[in-house]
Amino acid sequence: MKQDNMPQVTRFWNTIAEEFDAIYTGANKSWTSRFLDRVFRKDIYQRFDWVMQKSGDVRGKTICDIGCGSGRFVTEFAKRGAAHVTGVDVAPDMLKLAQGLVERDGVADKCDFALSDVLNWKTDRKFDIAIAIGFWDYIQDPPERLRLIRNFTKETFLSAWPRFWTWRMPVRKVRLQYIRGCPVYFFRKPQVFEMLEGAGFQVVSCETIGKLFCVEARPK
Ligand SMILES: C[S@@+](CC[C@H](N)C(=O)[O-])C[C@H]1O[C@@H](n2cnc3c(N)ncnc32)[C@H](O)[C@@H]1O
Repeated sequence: MKQDNMPQVTRFWNTIAEEFDAIYTGANKSWTSRFLDRVFRKDIYQRFDWVMQKSGDVRGKTICDIGCGSGRFVTEFAKRGAAHVTGVDVAPDMLKLAQGLVERDGVADKCDFALSDVLNWKTDRKFDIAIAIGFWDYIQDPPERLRLIRNFTKETFLSAWPRFWTWRMPVRKVRLQYIRGCPVYFFRKPQVFEMLEGAGFQVVSCETIGKLFCVEARPK
């Protein structure tokens, strides 16, 4: 049965906003924790590099980051010369971190943030590039959100999907869903392709990176 899981998702990400951002920075982490992140969360760094490589030269482009979290992609795009970057997220504490980051990096004038589920986000803007990374993990039923993303994407959509039935799947189900109360979902490759195509995207490439499918798509 389809449910609205967003209250649980929002609560979870608000609670662990700083903890999540520390995966990127290593802030307040012991040497051992940083080492464990590098080993067990390697695909978080790899998906970042994948997005930057696939985005290519972003100078002058407009970009939308769905589920932008603490703004690590937003600030990087802005520093690489994007004309404007918009981050959308349901968790206010994540957006506070993101706003602070773009201010510290001196790119706040090129960035804006919307506190919203993409499902309820009203915009008539169009973006050259859209990304949704570390996002589908928390979405029970992606098609409607995919169609909305398709409507505002002009050139490229980059998305990362947690793979069904890797060793990490049961670990995350227990740790996130059953212990910490944040629902988490996993996907098979044909299902991902079917959902993207059904939303009006054409899949250009798909790479298996760690426990993820990283998919480049463009509007049909
Ligand atoms: C794992 S974090 C990823 C953050 C960022 N994309 C990154 O990779 O660094 C997931 C983020 O997605 C946000 N999120 C989850 N479901 C969302 C939804 N339906 N609409 C907007 N944001 C959502 C969460 O609040 C959280 O900040």
